[in-house]
Amino acid sequence: MKIVIANDSHFKYAEIICETIAESAKVRGTGIAKRTPEYIQKRLHNGNAIIALDGDKFAGFCYIEVWGHEKFVANSGLIVHPDYRNQGLAKQIKKEIFALSRSKFPNAKIFGITTGLAVMKMNYELGYKPVTFSELTTDPEFWKGCQTCKNFDILTRTEQKMCLCTGMLYDPETKAKETKSEPKEKLNSKAFQRLKSIKESLFLNKKTK
Ligand SMILES: CC(C)(COP(=O)(O)OP(=O)(O)OC[C@H]1O[C@@H](n2cnc3c(N)ncnc32)[C@H](O)[C@@H]1OP(=O)(O)O)[C@@H](O)C(=O)NCCC(=O)NCCS
Repeated sequence: MKIVIANDSHFKYAEIICETIAESAKVRGTGIAKRTPEYIQKRLHNGNAIIALDGDKFAGFCYIEVWGHEKFVANSGLIVHPDYRNQGLAKQIKKEIFALSRSKFPNAKIFGITTGLAVMKMNYELGYKPVTFSELTTDPEFWKGCQTCKNFDILTRTEQKMCLCTGMLYDPETKAKETKSEPKEKLNSKAFQRLKSIKESLFLNKKTK
């Protein structure tokens, strides 16, 4: 498996990346910001993406988006092809895209919004903390991305204060102040699953377990 910084030679994978992201969202029944192959190609061209290839076969992907004049960057669109899941590939891609973000944008806060427990776990281990949406970028272009998500009405109803996604943030300044001797914590998965089901019952009229 090769995990590399993507470039123009990977343009041919843009289509399968978009298809795999859309297909997986359908299977999970969750909302997702839809991306076109042209949008993905821009990230490949800028060297703002990581791609995993098994020989010539597409295995996984993630890209960097820059918001608020480089004050914030997001690691978005994480996808592992179903044939390569549960082998630690997402974790490796996340590590690489995080390292790329830190080296290209050392002063930026790194954030993401997600409903996925796997992503929350990985972010947490990289040093992200769960935060309210008010601590994330106010760049309207970022929030416009949510318009293609099927839960967009919730974000509108709450005046962008909350949605089914949880916001997570890595703040390099706060991180620098923390001591290195702190024990590495694991995400409390149960608490997050509970929070998600409470939000679903509030916003989607689903019954909580
Ligand atoms: C989520 C996804 C990227 C995980 O890829 P993967 O290569 O199978 O993940 P890894 O094997 O590296 O696992 C990383 C961690 O997530 C956990 N994990 C993986 N899939 C999970 C799931 N469906 N639910 C909960 N945790 C999960 C693993 O147990 C592991 O945690 P651990 O280190 O505590 O054991 C992949 O399933 C995928 O592409 N899904 C569809 C797209 C998606 O959901 N993207 C996230 C957008 S929010």
